[in-house]
Amino acid sequence: MKRVFIRTFGCQMNEYDSERMYALIKDEYTLCQEPKEADLILVNTCSVRKKAEEKVYGLVGRLKHLKKQRPDLIIGVCGCVAQQEGEKILKRLPHVDMVLGPQAVYRLPEALEKVKKGQGPVIDTEFKPDFHQPLIFPHLNGTRPVKAFVTIMQGCDNFCAYCVVPYTRGREISRPPEEILAEIECLVKQGVREVMLLGQNVNSYGRKEKGFPSFAKLLREVAQIKGLWRIRFTTSHPKDLDHELMEAIADIPQVCEHLHLPVQAGSNRVLKRMNRKYTREEYLAKVEQLRKLCLEICLTTDIIVGFPGESPEDVEETLSLLKEVRYAEIFSFKYSDRPLARATQFEDKVPEEEKARRLAKVHKLQEKITREINESFIGREVEVLVEGKSHSNETLWTGRTRSNHVVNFEGEGDLKGKLVHVLIESCGQHSLRGQLVNILRGE
Ligand code: 5AD
Ligand code: SF4
Repeated sequence: MKRVFIRTFGCQMNEYDSERMYALIKDEYTLCQEPKEADLILVNTCSVRKKAEEKVYGLVGRLKHLKKQRPDLIIGVCGCVAQQEGEKILKRLPHVDMVLGPQAVYRLPEALEKVKKGQGPVIDTEFKPDFHQPLIFPHLNGTRPVKAFVTIMQGCDNFCAYCVVPYTRGREISRPPEEILAEIECLVKQGVREVMLLGQNVNSYGRKEKGFPSFAKLLREVAQIKGLWRIRFTTSHPKDLDHELMEAIADIPQVCEHLHLPVQAGSNRVLKRMNRKYTREEYLAKVEQLRKLCLEICLTTDIIVGFPGESPEDVEETLSLLKEVRYAEIFSFKYSDRPLARATQFEDKVPEEEKARRLAKVHKLQEKITREINESFIGREVEVLVEGKSHSNETLWTGRTRSNHVVNFEGEGDLKGKLVHVLIESCGQHSLRGQLVNILRGE
């Protein structure tokens, strides 16, 4: 067997795509942990923020010496940077053999064939989705998975002013429901108990395709699959979060009480310039409605600070929104220019040091809120799906609550893949700590 080294940057869609790539070539290649042991190196890249893109050039640049030592080594740059840069990658990194955009990763075997025949380098950045993919997923870390990703749609039609995704992943296309259900059934047979349905904007699933169910209906169909205990999904666009979906979240028992609902900013002026298509008030009204229907729901969000033209007052509005919603966790970023994204042309850029100050303010406030929410779990019994042993402490088990909080806990026996009750005794900034109470399912 030959050996492949796969490195994945970026979002969960990329992790899924990397698993796909491996599934496509696993009869010929086995996984290895070091680039120097590999016959094939695949770097699945992200270009959503500048930092992620720079990392790719750094890593692939350092592979040059390996290629010199072993000219047979095949190097592929895949994903969003590949799509965005295309041929330019070969100019900067002439030792690369394949440049495959996010929709071309499914054509990896053909590209490999060409390179091996000496017809490389191959550049494939065509938007030609192929949803007829193999259903068997080896997990990239080689262990029996308890949870898995399932892509249900690709691309994005929203064109937020800061975002490169519509250019790197193309227009929205939903995957046929039969294929989604078949894939999940197959995963459940392999022991998967929780799925995360993936898409750039899952709640507009099926809107463009004739005869497809709505996302809420799809959730109801997924919930019929026996042996699947938990359903999650990401990412949701606030403008497409409708009543039908809120009801589905509230009344399907398998759908977990967690929603990632990126708000990006708290000021209407900034939201408008970002082209987010909702106001602060509309967003808050949806959060309120959702919390009425589903009392336990836990929210997380994405925040961008330093968007062009953002004033100190606008930042105050973001801070006040954080106080009002009280997210369990936020992912916050300094705005960075992205090729093709509209805001790159905006002239009123915020200086880097100011962006850093604003980010620090956001972090400080959120740290306090997260801490308070984590502390509110102390003394409560929570349901945890056990994923395995904790990486940092082999004597502890680790898993997540339905609200998506990480729980590390003590417990006897083999608990992996079981659904358990844990009594929370203490907490840190990023996790809860407790003791096993009893096993609910999986014995
Ligand atoms: N600059 C900073 N953050 C960005 N994001 C997307 N594009 C940019 C950009 N140009 C953030 C958004 C999005 C998350 C995945 O990345 O918050 O929700
Ligand atoms: Fe980017 Fe906006 Fe689409 Fe999300 S919804 S991928 S932020 S364009």
